[in-house]
Amino acid sequence: MLKSIATFMGFGLLSIAQLLKDPGVAGPPLELVHLYYDEFPTGIAVSSAGRMFSNYPGGLDSNDTNNGSNGKYTVAELMPNNTETPYPSAEMNNPPGGAINYTTYPPTGANYQQYLIGVQSVVVDPHDRLWILDTGRVSTNNGTLVPASYGGPKLIGVNLSNNTVFQTIVFPTTVAFADSYLNDVRFDLRPNITSSGKGVAYITDSSVEGRNGIVIVDLGTGESWRHLTGAAQTRPEQEFVAYVWGVPIYQFQPGGPFTYSSFGSDGIALSADESDLYFGSVSGRYLYSVPTKALRDRSATSEILAQQMILNRGQKGVSDGFETDTNGFIYHGNMEQNAISFFNPANGTVTLFVRDPRINWVDTMSTSTNGYLYFTVNQLYLGAGFYPGTDRKTRPFALFRVPLPNNATKPILG
Ligand SMILES: *[C@@H]1O[C@H](CO)[C@@H](O)[C@H](O)[C@H]1NC(C)=O
Ligand SMILES: *[C@@H]1O[C@H](CO)[C@@H](O)[C@H](O)[C@H]1NC(C)=O
Ligand SMILES: *[C@@H]1O[C@H](CO)[C@@H](O)[C@H](O)[C@H]1NC(C)=O
Ligand SMILES: *[C@@H]1O[C@H](CO)[C@@H](O)[C@H](O)[C@H]1NC(C)=O
Ligand SMILES: *[C@@H]1O[C@H](CO)[C@@H](O)[C@H](O)[C@H]1NC(C)=O
Ligand SMILES: *[C@@H]1O[C@H](CO)[C@@H](O)[C@H](O)[C@H]1NC(C)=O
Ligand SMILES: *[C@@H]1O[C@H](CO)[C@@H](O)[C@H](O)[C@H]1NC(C)=O
Ligand SMILES: *[C@@H]1O[C@H](CO)[C@@H](O)[C@H](O)[C@H]1NC(C)=O
Ligand SMILES: *[C@@H]1O[C@H](CO)[C@@H](O)[C@H](O)[C@H]1NC(C)=O
Ligand SMILES: *[C@@H]1O[C@H](CO)[C@@H](O)[C@H](O)[C@H]1NC(C)=O
Repeated sequence: MLKSIATFMGFGLLSIAQLLKDPGVAGPPLELVHLYYDEFPTGIAVSSAGRMFSNYPGGLDSNDTNNGSNGKYTVAELMPNNTETPYPSAEMNNPPGGAINYTTYPPTGANYQQYLIGVQSVVVDPHDRLWILDTGRVSTNNGTLVPASYGGPKLIGVNLSNNTVFQTIVFPTTVAFADSYLNDVRFDLRPNITSSGKGVAYITDSSVEGRNGIVIVDLGTGESWRHLTGAAQTRPEQEFVAYVWGVPIYQFQPGGPFTYSSFGSDGIALSADESDLYFGSVSGRYLYSVPTKALRDRSATSEILAQQMILNRGQKGVSDGFETDTNGFIYHGNMEQNAISFFNPANGTVTLFVRDPRINWVDTMSTSTNGYLYFTVNQLYLGAGFYPGTDRKTRPFALFRVPLPNNATKPILG
């Protein structure tokens, strides 16, 4: 039928037909803020004065693993001239002998409490302090992610007024297991939620080795504990395949066969009133939340209650980091759509926020007090840890920002 109409009408008409096509862009235009020509970034944190910080995990790109003399840094401040300065100091980014301890078998992450090993996240809290989340793990040059040693996995608070460490919380091996991967962190500084009065941090464990869950830290006492370890909602979905720019993504581990992607709970965000913690697995499309009160609870049945209180907020697409604004929206990447969307808890649905062909892997987001959503786009899926097992990333990586809807800003509570 089609063929006979085409023949009858002539090909000229077909070639001028205006077919509806994917416009490729939506929402406010992206503003380019920084180009990363050196190391591979994941996180972005923006202070109230507009200072910007990123981190570069050697666990995701072995070329960024500090070996004691290659000058690799795992946290940097982004400078106005588009360069990166190791932060809070060059010294803290240079563990003596490097980030890997080769005297153990197998090699392990170095055990230094006062040096950075492999940082997966940097976050500015509501009191405008920078926190650095160290996994204590990096990759060797054959791409093997080494297990952590006690002292490596830690949370470090830095005073941005004088660039000095004011707190270091080292996780016990019963909270950060040797095969944990502490991924992202959010801060609830309300004084009345703990007896110590200094607030709480919530952290995702995204380990591809499988013991996923949420780590909770009392910032007053330094005590930490876990909830939701092994719960289906913190685990990757089965046989999970994400697609970016049309290409299916399979995982690669050195010495092993290709597998389905197996990243657990990773993205994390507090509701604007800090009563709920949103989380999701990278290898999954669902968004979940759990009351923060249930995570703070350490009573005998608190784990059972916490699992019962998880809410399934529906499918949101494939995401890495999440973020919150004063609208109460929960922003998340939507990698398979070259997009960022937000979940609105008030109507229970996801709305498209921005789309752009330059968006591939939206790694991490940060809302700012001056009304922007900042986000890194880092080609993560083109790294050596994915099929075909070779690094295909192209520099530079990018930091963008877009204005938040309704003149919203970063929520400040506590
Ligand atoms: C560290 O890496 C640099 C640059 O790749 C190399 O020249 C140096 O030999 C390495 N040092 C050690 C101790 O492996
Ligand atoms: C960029 O700025 C930093 C900090 O002000 C300075 O140390 C560095 O030399 C500058 N680099 C270039 C290439 O201009
Ligand atoms: C390396 O491992 C050895 C053996 O466990 C230990 O004694 C040493 O403190 C470790 N050093 C570092 C920097 O991790
Ligand atoms: C940060 O440093 C400034 C300047 O020294 C000081 O006034 C402030 O109390 C410090 N804050 C913390 C949390 O230590
Ligand atoms: C930074 O401020 C803190 C808290 O006021 C203080 O203890 C520390 O000595 C200061 N550090 C520097 C390098 O000024
Ligand atoms: C903490 O105090 C705020 C107001 O100051 C109150 O709304 C909230 O219910 C309190 N939270 C708890 C857990 O007591
Ligand atoms: C990779 O290197 C580590 C550390 O040197 C070694 O233990 C491991 O066997 C190597 N793996 C492969 C697949 O070559
Ligand atoms: C949900 O709320 C958002 C933000 O106000 C709005 O853009 C969207 O249209 C709403 N969705 C539905 C299905 O009502
Ligand atoms: C490390 O850098 C080298 C040289 O640019 C490149 O050939 C290799 O693929 C990189 N490895 C990884 C794991 O990114
Ligand atoms: C945002 O702020 C601008 C400037 O103050 C104002 O003109 C505009 O109406 C505001 N938009 C919304 C949606 O509130």
